[in-house]
Formats: sequence, C-alpha cells, structure tokens
Amino acid sequence: MGGAHLQYLPGYLDEIAQKALLEEIRCLVDRAPLFTPTMPRWGRPFSVRMSNCGPLGWVSDKSGYRYQPTHPVTGEPWPAMPQSLLDLWDATTGYKYPPQACLINYYSPDAKMGLHVDRDEEDFDAPILSLSLGDDARFRLGGRERSDPTQSFILRSGDIFILDGEDRLAYHGIDRIYPGTSLLLEEPGRINLTMRRVSKG
Ligand code: SIN
Ligand code: FE2
Repeated sequence: MGGAHLQYLPGYLDEIAQKALLEEIRCLVDRAPLFTPTMPRWGRPFSVRMSNCGPLGWVSDKSGYRYQPTHPVTGEPWPAMPQSLLDLWDATTGYKYPPQACLINYYSPDAKMGLHVDRDEEDFDAPILSLSLGDDARFRLGGRERSDPTQSFILRSGDIFILDGEDRLAYHGIDRIYPGTSLLLEEPGRINLTMRRVSKG
C-alpha cells in the first residue's frame, strides 16, 4: 500500500460541536466579512464567497492566487484561528506544525468550485484538512493530472476529510450543493473550512 492518502471521517463532529463551531465562524465573519474572490487575469468572480482566519489567508484577484496576512477589502489582519480548530488539526492530522491559514468558503445553493489543486503553499508535506457544515455537497476527487479519472463523494455537515500523501496534490472540486439537506444554517447553503500549513517548518 502507498503512504497516507485521503482520510474520510464522516460525521466527525456531532450536532453540538457543529453548532459551537458555527457560532465561532459567525464571530469570525463579523470581523472578517466574506469577500468575493476573482479569477487571476480575467477577473471573473467566484461563485463561492470567502474569508479566512489565522496568521495568513488565501485570496485571489487579478494579480493571482496567494496567501497574505490581511483581508483584501478591510486591510485588517485576519482574526486568530480558534483553539477548537487548532485542536481539531492536532487530533486528526497529528502534523508536526500548526496550520497557518483556515479558508472559510461559503456556498450559496447555486455555488460551485471547479476542479483545482491546492498548490499555493510551500509545504506539500503538510496535509489539508477540510470540514463541512450545512447542506450536503458533491465533492469530486481526481488524481495529479486534470485528465485523471475522478470519484465523487457526498460531504455532509460534520464530515472531515484530509488530503494527504499522494492525494495532497490531487485535483478536487465541488460540483453542486443540495439545498435543504441540513438544518444547521438558517438558510440553505454550505460552509467549508480548509486548514493549511503554508510555510515549511
Ligand atoms: C476547497 O477545495 O477549497 C474547498 C473544498 C470544499 O468546499 O469542500
Ligand atoms: Fe481546494
């Protein structure tokens, strides 16, 4: 068997933990409001809205994809990563260094995310931890080449998956949201958190 790979932990967070986390995300987004990223060069807006917490945040605009210490609209530093997320990273990844960025993705019912690879980090040995809240989503995971075959999973509220080892640089994306499949959020939609280690060591 090859080394580590996709670790899928369905229902990792129970409803109480999901509600507590949602409260924390609401506080974070009050301080660092959701923004609409745009595609490098063309400037086409993403359908997903985003924010971040932690020392760094992932942003995209005409000048490209990157991590930066401040919010692209308010210019303020990102709020600190809640201890609960740092603990979750330790408990599920066991990685030797803490995460530096937690991207907060908000999907309205018609939002999606095209197939892409997370490669704006320096440290590809560090896993990427993803956590889903709210409505179900169809997640597609492929291989290292865009043309590789893909498999689909339904990610539900409370599910965790970890892209690690040979899947760390795999293509992935969200094909669609299934509105009304969860009652966690007040309105239909989905929140996804991805925690990342950006620098080496
Ligand atoms: C991402 O690839 O950044 C998000 C994946 C997801 O929403 O599950
Ligand atoms: Fe991604």
